[in-house]
Amino acid sequence: MDTFCITYNNWNPKKQKLREALCTLGNGYFGTRGAAEESSNDSINYPGTYLAGGFNRAKTKVGGRDIENEDLVNFPNWLCLSFRPGGGKWLNLEEVEILEYQQVLQMRKGILERKFSIKDQDGRITRIHSRRLVSMQNMHLAGIQWHLTPVNWSGELEIRTALDGTVINDNVARYRELESTHLKPLGTQVEKNNILVLQVQTTQSRLTMAQAARTRLFHKGKEIRSEFEANQKEGYIEQLISFKAEEGEKYNIEKIVAIHTSRDRAVSEPSQDACQNISRAGNFQQMLKDHIDAYKFLWHRGDIGVIGNKKIQQLTRLHIFHNFQTISLNTIGLDVGVPSRGLHGEAYRGHIFWDELYIFPFLNLRLPEVTRSLLMYRYYRLEEARHAAKKEGYRGAMFPWQSGSNGREESQILHLNPESGNWIPDNTHLQRHVNSAIAYNIWNYFIATDDKLFLSHFGAEMFLNIAKFWASKTTFNKKENRYEIHKVVGPDEYHTTLPGSSEQGLNNNAYTNVMAAWVLQKALEILELIKKSRKRELLGNLTIGNDELTLWKEISEKMYVPFLEEGIISQFDGYEGLQEFPWEEYRNKYNDIQRLDRILEKEGDTVNKYKASKQADVLMLFYLFSRDELQAIFKKLGIKFTEEQIKNNVQYYKERTSHGSTLSRLVFSWILSKFDEEMSWENFEKLIVSDFEDIQGGTTPEGIHLGAMAGSLDLIQRNFAGLEVGDHALWINPRIPPNIKAISMRVNYRNHWIYISVDKKKLKISFEEGWSNEVKIGVIDTLHTFQVGEAREFKLSPSRAKGK
Ligand code: BGC
Repeated sequence: MDTFCITYNNWNPKKQKLREALCTLGNGYFGTRGAAEESSNDSINYPGTYLAGGFNRAKTKVGGRDIENEDLVNFPNWLCLSFRPGGGKWLNLEEVEILEYQQVLQMRKGILERKFSIKDQDGRITRIHSRRLVSMQNMHLAGIQWHLTPVNWSGELEIRTALDGTVINDNVARYRELESTHLKPLGTQVEKNNILVLQVQTTQSRLTMAQAARTRLFHKGKEIRSEFEANQKEGYIEQLISFKAEEGEKYNIEKIVAIHTSRDRAVSEPSQDACQNISRAGNFQQMLKDHIDAYKFLWHRGDIGVIGNKKIQQLTRLHIFHNFQTISLNTIGLDVGVPSRGLHGEAYRGHIFWDELYIFPFLNLRLPEVTRSLLMYRYYRLEEARHAAKKEGYRGAMFPWQSGSNGREESQILHLNPESGNWIPDNTHLQRHVNSAIAYNIWNYFIATDDKLFLSHFGAEMFLNIAKFWASKTTFNKKENRYEIHKVVGPDEYHTTLPGSSEQGLNNNAYTNVMAAWVLQKALEILELIKKSRKRELLGNLTIGNDELTLWKEISEKMYVPFLEEGIISQFDGYEGLQEFPWEEYRNKYNDIQRLDRILEKEGDTVNKYKASKQADVLMLFYLFSRDELQAIFKKLGIKFTEEQIKNNVQYYKERTSHGSTLSRLVFSWILSKFDEEMSWENFEKLIVSDFEDIQGGTTPEGIHLGAMAGSLDLIQRNFAGLEVGDHALWINPRIPPNIKAISMRVNYRNHWIYISVDKKKLKISFEEGWSNEVKIGVIDTLHTFQVGEAREFKLSPSRAKGK
């Protein structure tokens, strides 16, 4: 088994949409699903191409109301390539006999390969070997190469190559009642050298995309100059190339495509730039070479070796790969965030949620320049967030739960329950905790990189705005002498209101409250960290006076944290009054109860009534903070919180969580690692296959879950290799689980590249290169100073107790 490959040895129409998502190729600028070149949108296939940041808004009438949604647009399908023998039918795998079929995602090289032989209705056998790339080197380019052999026939052969802009957003069945046409055709033309050009524009955001394609035919290395015929209709252009094919001969068909948009940097006019790029691009082989080189560097930075478990190794690489398809070095400066479902499908409309919280830990230590760019996406939307806060009567900045083009709140007002067919009001936008996630990300980017310029300028400005928001969002409860936060929703989206209440939102979601206290504590710390002049500037510009700073300190020491009996943190006020959920009964009644909210709504009930969570909520605190950090936060709040309590809280909520989000297993795997290694591993195993096996039964074909993918990588580095990123040292305290032999990885800690390899007995560390000649690395509980070029080995004792 080559763990750099995902191999499918058959054509399976039922699984095709899942495979398309898993075989998506992208380069951080655009992504294209792994659909067959000859296919188009139907019940089996869904070709989709998505541009990072390529959004459009459209209105639909639902129940008499105008609903506006913003979608990541499915842009024209550039894949279109097919063939037919003279007088035959165009290739369709459903209509021929498939003699052999193999599809391989070659992750090391970033290539999708298909090899198949088919026999048509007239007994003609044709073999095709197709290879495809989305260039990691030149982000505007993509290419397909077909080696086609008429195995037992000679005669007229026709190739059809096209650019299809008549596509709509049709990947997600439950969105189908909503407006899904986002593209307006702008024109098609055939340019010099038989270059096809298609231009489209999004209907509302007026983003123009030009695609240019050149298809050439070679035989024995020589170009065959044959008959070209171009057909054009609105939004679609195709070329038919016909030639005389000889039995047993191999023909090489190459389609090179360039994609440019009005949203690009360094752009004059997209179609001119696309044509220019195509004419400069070499042939497929040359493109391939540059592309593979770019991948070499990416893997050098990003690979994680998992020795002794091929399945986990393969899926680890799949997760690294899809992170790179969505966010790579090409992403830098594109003014885009991380869509939670990648550039792989249309679920959640390509929106950006809080999932960066799970994604950045992997990125920070490998492509920190990319994290910085992704944080800038938030910075450029600070004004919109300030406006949102003001509109609701708050100060500072209130970032949206779902973000898209300009940082407006993009959460839907109504969503469709596919189980019942009902449209239901959606109040999940009250997840104000996204603000703390952004602050947390800023801080952790800084800790991992020591990027003081970023922190003192952009980072601090965002951080202080978020702190200001939290201070204005709290209310003082005189009786309790504590500050409270009302009308919010926590990460557990199942609970948006108390049963029977007409109010939206809940009071004192513990996770939200503690995070807000942390933000306020950290904001004060950051003000002491940055230069005095910058502090003066910021406080002046943001009109933050001494009173405000005093208030921040007070709130951070007096934030209310609700508790149930015996030291269990209450998820929110009123949680104690909810009913216990009959888990057993529902597990017996339904196969899959991950989406309890939908099941209960269909039954005329509501999940709001029960002590049943979609995903980790209170427990997020134990995921984001180490025991020591958390105890420090609680100490400031004047609350005693022991290790025993952590364990009891984990136990309490573990029994009340349905894991309706793939993020949930991730959090559980981490927090359980301290108390129950077996259960932790079970959760890790579920997590790592969640997309590959589509464990939610149909969600992966609508896009991969990038948070879960990147989170699984973070678990390997944080849990198994035991990395803890400190501000003075990188700490390593490994514990390799029984089902793995060893782990290796390269990390960039504060501009120092460090190679780590660890098995059950020893840990090897080498400090390869860095901005300074020294780096501090803590091994278990002892601090060491490494000189550049130095490599050391440490013995590990199996009985050692783990971490802080
Ligand atoms: C989860 C959220 C997550 C979103 C996007 C939802 O199902 O509940 O926490 O941010 O998916 O991944």
